[in-house]
Amino acid sequence: MSTDWLAPPPDVTIGADEVHVWRAVLQARPSEVSRLWWLLSEDEHERARRFRFERDRRRFVVGRGLLRVLVGRYTASPPEAIRFSYSAHGKPAVAEPPTSLTFNLAHSEEWALFAFAWGRRVGVDIEHMRSDLADEQIARRFFAPGEVQALLGLPADQRSAAFFRCWTRKEAFVKARGEGLSLPLDAFEVSLDPDAATLLRAAEPDEVRRWQLAPLFPHPAYAAALAVEGDGWQLRCWHLAGPETLR
Ligand SMILES: CC(C)(COP(=O)(O)OP(=O)(O)OC[C@H]1O[C@@H](n2cnc3c(N)ncnc32)[C@H](O)[C@@H]1OP(=O)(O)O)[C@@H](O)C(=O)NCCC(=O)NCCS
Repeated sequence: MSTDWLAPPPDVTIGADEVHVWRAVLQARPSEVSRLWWLLSEDEHERARRFRFERDRRRFVVGRGLLRVLVGRYTASPPEAIRFSYSAHGKPAVAEPPTSLTFNLAHSEEWALFAFAWGRRVGVDIEHMRSDLADEQIARRFFAPGEVQALLGLPADQRSAAFFRCWTRKEAFVKARGEGLSLPLDAFEVSLDPDAATLLRAAEPDEVRRWQLAPLFPHPAYAAALAVEGDGWQLRCWHLAGPETLR
């Protein structure tokens, strides 16, 4: 599966058998932030205004603005006309225009990932690998017993990266299902292998066949993962050089 981050063709479209993941930096010039601000809806403006720190507000505005530009491109609609709906646990979906496009997004510090597909649930996660977070106590609290065992079986110098592989794979699966933390984190188990991400165990046995995971490599200091419903799809990863690229 290719995880190179390519420059998108100007007329990028998703095939029925494709999943696209976009990588973007949330830093932008004030003029770009302002341009993206005007694409947002009133409820998004309200949410943006509630951020205490300017930096968090800017990241939210750029993330949502880019999301709208990308959804607009895939659905051939003006970004500002797109309306999102939210599941009971907060997962956003495209409500307007009517479409089978599915998406999910994640951000960590200045990096964001956006995943898109047709008609299949997707979830994505990215985390900055901070070694101070990757400790055994946190693993025991959030991971399934098999995952903790696999983690502690690794040489100490490999544990921090494996911790974040496990975390992002679990989170991508949770986000694909859109049920938030109502899904107990020890009810399913993922692999920790660097190059192969697998759902090893789930509450319902047929879920192991229904879901596929993929590791993503957006930046050496970040772990990331994708969860996709169904099989027979190809992954394409695009790098969004800046908000202006999609003008
Ligand atoms: C809501 C949740 C997705 C939080 O994720 P997070 O790590 O804080 O943030 P991420 O950057 O991954 O994702 C945020 C985006 O996910 C989307 N999102 C929100 N709720 C979601 C849900 N229930 N399902 C899927 N996606 C959701 C939104 O688009 C959001 O972006 P926005 O706030 O700019 O609109 C949820 O899974 C959660 O609270 N997780 C807690 C973390 C945890 O304990 N993880 C343990 C893993 S081992």
